[in-house]
Amino acid sequence: MKKTRAVITGVHGWVPDYVLTNRELETMVDTNDEWIVTRTGIKERRILKGENKGTSVIGINAVKGLLEKTNTNPEDIELIICATVTPDMPFPATANIIADGVGATKSYSFDISAACSGFLYALTMGSQFIETGMHKKVIVVGADKMSAIIDYQDRATCIIFGDGGGAVLLEPTEEEVGVMDSLLLSDGSGAPYLHMKAGGSRKPATAETVAAREHYAYQEGSTVFKFAVTNMAEVSAQIMDRNQLVADDIAWLVPHQANKRIIDATANRMGIGPEKVMLNIERYGNTTAGTLPLCLWDYESQLKKGDNIILAAFGGGFTWGSIYLKWGYDPK
Ligand SMILES: CC(C)(COP(=O)(O)OP(=O)(O)OC[C@H]1O[C@@H](n2cnc3c(N)ncnc32)[C@H](O)[C@@H]1OP(=O)(O)O)[C@@H](O)C(=O)NCCC(=O)NCCS
Repeated sequence: MKKTRAVITGVHGWVPDYVLTNRELETMVDTNDEWIVTRTGIKERRILKGENKGTSVIGINAVKGLLEKTNTNPEDIELIICATVTPDMPFPATANIIADGVGATKSYSFDISAACSGFLYALTMGSQFIETGMHKKVIVVGADKMSAIIDYQDRATCIIFGDGGGAVLLEPTEEEVGVMDSLLLSDGSGAPYLHMKAGGSRKPATAETVAAREHYAYQEGSTVFKFAVTNMAEVSAQIMDRNQLVADDIAWLVPHQANKRIIDATANRMGIGPEKVMLNIERYGNTTAGTLPLCLWDYESQLKKGDNIILAAFGGGFTWGSIYLKWGYDPK
């Protein structure tokens, strides 16, 4: 009997219109365009402005576009998983709000919290529901409104992050395409280096926590940088090894977009040239769970059926991982 795999049959992204440039950041904190471009590769990022607009706005727009381009009836969706660390509110899950917003009235839905690796975790989980035969149509969303938790007085952090995200549709196939392998890891001892101090059950919100700016993402950038370089490169090399893949076999590397220097180091370690590396950090910065689907969406017209693709990410937790997939369709 042939193995049933989960294949991506469509991808769609969404970013808000407002562009926050390095030049504008220069007016907010002590930084400059040259430093940001040289140290991170980022030129601009998008910001979701307006009252009462949370991450679900990004997810709803991405999923609506996805349903439309894949000609999918929202009532046929059985499950929506949303990876995010900036949910609209602690509960209900942002995936619930997205499901309601797109009319997926017959689905259930939940969120996954794995920071920048969230899309890898969610894609792995969504694929399992397809592989077991439990579901035929699953949507995986990766989206974050990072501007909601970024301190625009902290120059080492605010320059990196932006808002945006994307969604993929997963369906079953018996062809040799789809999600082939997944390698996910985490290490909770990394928490001190990247976290949000207050607002959870350990330290609920008070006037003092707000005054101390503890509801913003706290990051020890250079420590995170070192772990990211080592682990993202290592896990990508491991997934290639265990699938007997060499650099020539890989059509595309889809790396988490946190810092261009981390991306370059990962590609180098894998022996993959820059022409095969998806890159949009220049325009969007780090959208946390949004980076990988945004890359796939940007490069969709260049992907061919059967292309070997390696996704790789590292993020808060620490969490990291890699997915090997074979692309499922030619440009439409
Ligand atoms: C945040 C990051 C860009 C900082 O770059 P870095 O080269 O590590 O810089 P450092 O933190 O070592 O700081 C070097 C100097 O630049 C300064 N600096 C930091 N941010 C600056 C900015 N925006 N503009 C100008 N100078 C800045 C620092 O104050 C420091 O100055 P000092 O030497 O006088 O003390 C980098 O560490 C990084 O990308 N880290 C990983 C981020 C990441 O992946 N996060 C998400 C996980 S998914």
